[in-house]
Amino acid sequence: MTEHPTDRLLRDRARAVLPGGMYGHQSAASLPPAYPQFMRGGRGARIWDVDGNEYVDLMCSYGPIVLGHQHPRVEAAASAQAALGDCQNGPGPVMVDLAELLVRTVRHADWAMFAKNGTDATTMCCTIARAQTGRRKILAATGAYHGAAPWCTPRPAGTTPEDRANVGYYTYNDLASVRQAAAEAGDDLAAIVVSPFKHDAGYDQELVDPAFARGLRALCDATGAALILDDVRCGFRLHLGSSWEPIGVDPDLSAWSKAIANGHPLAAVLGSDAFRGGAQQVFVTGSFWFSAVPMAAAVATITTLGEENAVAAMARTGAALRDGILEQARAWDLPVKYTGPVVMPYLTFAGDKGYELANVFTAQALRGGVYLHPRHNWFVSAAMTGADLALVLEATDQAFAAVRKQIGQ
Ligand SMILES: Cc1ncc(COP(=O)(O)O)c(C=O)c1O
Repeated sequence: MTEHPTDRLLRDRARAVLPGGMYGHQSAASLPPAYPQFMRGGRGARIWDVDGNEYVDLMCSYGPIVLGHQHPRVEAAASAQAALGDCQNGPGPVMVDLAELLVRTVRHADWAMFAKNGTDATTMCCTIARAQTGRRKILAATGAYHGAAPWCTPRPAGTTPEDRANVGYYTYNDLASVRQAAAEAGDDLAAIVVSPFKHDAGYDQELVDPAFARGLRALCDATGAALILDDVRCGFRLHLGSSWEPIGVDPDLSAWSKAIANGHPLAAVLGSDAFRGGAQQVFVTGSFWFSAVPMAAAVATITTLGEENAVAAMARTGAALRDGILEQARAWDLPVKYTGPVVMPYLTFAGDKGYELANVFTAQALRGGVYLHPRHNWFVSAAMTGADLALVLEATDQAFAAVRKQIGQ
């Protein structure tokens, strides 16, 4: 049983000085009460909350941690750069090293630009597409998350209808709906933005239909609009390159962040030569966008991912996790859906109203020492060991038992 006295005290103090006590996607307010709000640290696949409770981490800071917390090689590279300088009057040489590495690693990339957050990157992609094409309209999938800027935030408080006046919507994996939205945009279509698979929080996930991806590519080729792949959540976890390389579809522009620097703050826009002109025209910048430490961390992260075949290792762990969990669900006679790529899975219970069963499941898993999420896909890192996996499956078995008890025999 976990105890959270320090967390409770921090929450009390936070309520006075942070709006709502905490905000954004890491707010624990909508998680079961068993969840801590404040975290102390992590190493490998293990994390500790402020009260010292230990968990196997299957959220990976909502995606950034891909090699494991405090990865020695990444932290050594970051420290070496920090000893020289971080935030300076100009970028370090590492900016060129990183851009070269990304252009070598990602097939569609001829150039790279850097920022801090995924929202910066998706918004920059739209700006570059508009600058290049001289058009206004962007198409996005209904319900897809592309960040927290006024054009895409899922909670529109404080934004205006004008912020979205040039955004049209389509249904993921439904080419006819994209064609219709494109027809409505007419000759004002600047870009179609799409995620590698449908990973809207709180819903069963849906892998991309390769014919849908190819259809988007053909539509962009026919209209001159940019195909923007939002690889912020999936990038460097599904594939060492763009997440659509395995299905043979290259975007014109792509947005990256999260796993790119194993937890260090960095985002990137990658693009093809056809959009280099637009990228040169736009004014995009930020006080901390050229900090050298996260770039050094990114070079180390991407190099390590490649040298250690980490993507394949995560896929093996993810498959073992899926097999174990589905076997337990069968044994407990609980109908579940386990969707998405095995390294970014999501579990739902049939007929679960208001996430009641998901809350019971994840709260019990937490008590058993495993950090999952009831309404967001999980993330597998390359740091997960056999012992971590065994602990996870022990906890999920107890979590299924709790759900079974909640429903009744
Ligand atoms: C697919 C996708 N795009 C964009 C973003 C925004 O990234 P950030 O939170 O770093 O601004 C996220 C964040 O979760 C995301 O999952």
